[in-house]
Amino acid sequence: MPDHPTLRTVRLLLRPWRENDRVAFAAINADPRVMEFLPNPLTRQESDAMIDRIRTHFDRHGFGLWAVEAVGVADLIGFTGLSVPRFEAHFTPCVEVGWRLAFEHWGRGYATEAAGAAVQFGFQHARLEQIVSFTVPANVRSRRVMEKIRMTYSPADDFEHPGIPDGHRLKHHVLYRLKYSSTHK
Ligand SMILES: CC(C)(COP(=O)(O)OP(=O)(O)OC[C@H]1O[C@@H](n2cnc3c(N)ncnc32)[C@H](O)[C@@H]1OP(=O)(O)O)[C@@H](O)C(=O)NCCC(=O)NCCS
Repeated sequence: MPDHPTLRTVRLLLRPWRENDRVAFAAINADPRVMEFLPNPLTRQESDAMIDRIRTHFDRHGFGLWAVEAVGVADLIGFTGLSVPRFEAHFTPCVEVGWRLAFEHWGRGYATEAAGAAVQFGFQHARLEQIVSFTVPANVRSRRVMEKIRMTYSPADDFEHPGIPDGHRLKHHVLYRLKYSSTHK
């Protein structure tokens, strides 16, 4: 199994998942505030299965959704990282940067700090030319993180998520893009 890399920022560790992350991760995934813009809160079983899929993704691609630790504050505050979406759309195949943090840790700039490290890894080590991110229009917190890491939005990139049923409140998505530039060296 290839190494799962660890990234360090001023306040955070983006690290491999550990068995004892499962309880804290399940609590995050069961919180309706965290899951407001996702189809459903997750059961413990679904949350565990997500950790397993994330590990397989690291094995396959050498990057993935890292477990995020706030050093000296909390062992697990959520995830941030890079993933390859499994659906097809006008911008796929692609690599997405994404994040999900426990409600009590919102509003401190953690997602932006972690996302900066993840995209840096994507450009420097994974040699990606472009990273995207997407969400529903109403998820203003997530869109703000995208803007703060200098992603750009074009309404022409809006799309209907193929994994969401027609007519569902979460069907319509906005897409942000970040292209590699010399500032990522
Ligand atoms: C999205 C999420 C990761 C942000 O985490 P965070 O650590 O609070 O993010 P940051 O503190 O780095 O930045 C959040 C920004 O949103 C802004 N913000 C927060 N609430 C807001 C609101 N109601 N309206 C507008 N902006 C808002 C903050 O002010 C901040 O921007 P600023 O630095 O310019 O002030 C977190 O809210 C989360 O886990 N949400 C649930 C999961 C989710 O939706 N994930 C994305 C799915 S696509």
